[in-house]
Amino acid sequence: MSDLVRLEVEDGIGTVRLDRPPMNALNAEIQHGLVAACREAAERSDVAAVVVYGGEKVFAAGADIKEMETMSYTDMVDHSGLLQDFTRALARLPKPTVAAVTGYALGGGCEVALACDWRVAAEDARLGQPEILLGIIPGAGGTQRLARLVGPARAKDLVLSGRFVDAREALAIGLVDRVVPAAEVYTASRELVSRYVGGPSYAVRAAKEAIDRGLEVDLETGLEIERQLFAGLFATRDRATGMRHFVEKGKGPAPFEGS
Ligand code: CAA
Repeated sequence: MSDLVRLEVEDGIGTVRLDRPPMNALNAEIQHGLVAACREAAERSDVAAVVVYGGEKVFAAGADIKEMETMSYTDMVDHSGLLQDFTRALARLPKPTVAAVTGYALGGGCEVALACDWRVAAEDARLGQPEILLGIIPGAGGTQRLARLVGPARAKDLVLSGRFVDAREALAIGLVDRVVPAAEVYTASRELVSRYVGGPSYAVRAAKEAIDRGLEVDLETGLEIERQLFAGLFATRDRATGMRHFVEKGKGPAPFEGS
């Protein structure tokens, strides 16, 4: 894994820590590092949920413009798959994920946050997709995930203008889920996902997958995805534990084992 991205695990929560001061600009090394960190977080049984965090000052100010400046069309044809891979790795992580957004989350940084299940923002956070001001468009999933999250009109407002939104507006349009004082962003993000530690992890995984895959297809196909995943959970021990606990002792929490 790259030094610029670390997976730090504590109390069942994995923190994917972006660490490339001053702005956590996402160069190719950090993009590869994100893919690796997500893979490790997905595989480790001691990680129940993930916080993506860029430190106290900034989440990430986007793809590294200095690295991209000299790239040709064919360079970008070769590289653009990776741009989508690092956000896809995060979006497909089969565990709950939250972006702890301090300072700026711009361009690829905003796209990293969009690939998480939830976003907690500092009161002074600023988010946006300013690629248009560079003569390009978002390339790490922003046009698709932002439109799905906040609707096409609001997504077009942000992507076509490149303007930044503050935390209050981000909350109002559903771009972030919680706004807290800057010093509390990381702790609040951990708190938001800590309920999944010690939970029925295969059911949590199935619930996330049913919602995410279902939103990509028509209703009937989505319902079929739900049906298959629902029935599949009857092969887990946690399903048996959860139902036995209810029948014998009333409502939970049941002593799930994550198996
Ligand atoms: N890439 C490379 N370097 C960056 C960067 C980026 N995305 N963002 C900031 N930096 C660098 C600056 O060049 C500067 O470096 P030097 O000290 O060597 O000059 C340093 O970080 C500090 O930045 P500023 O001096 O600009 O700090 P500021 O506080 O005045 O402004 C900012 C902060 C608003 C984040 C501003 O730097 C900015 O607008 N950054 C670019 C944001 C952007 O356009 N992001 C989209 C990138 S394209 C993309 O992400 C494509 C995609 O979809 C994948």
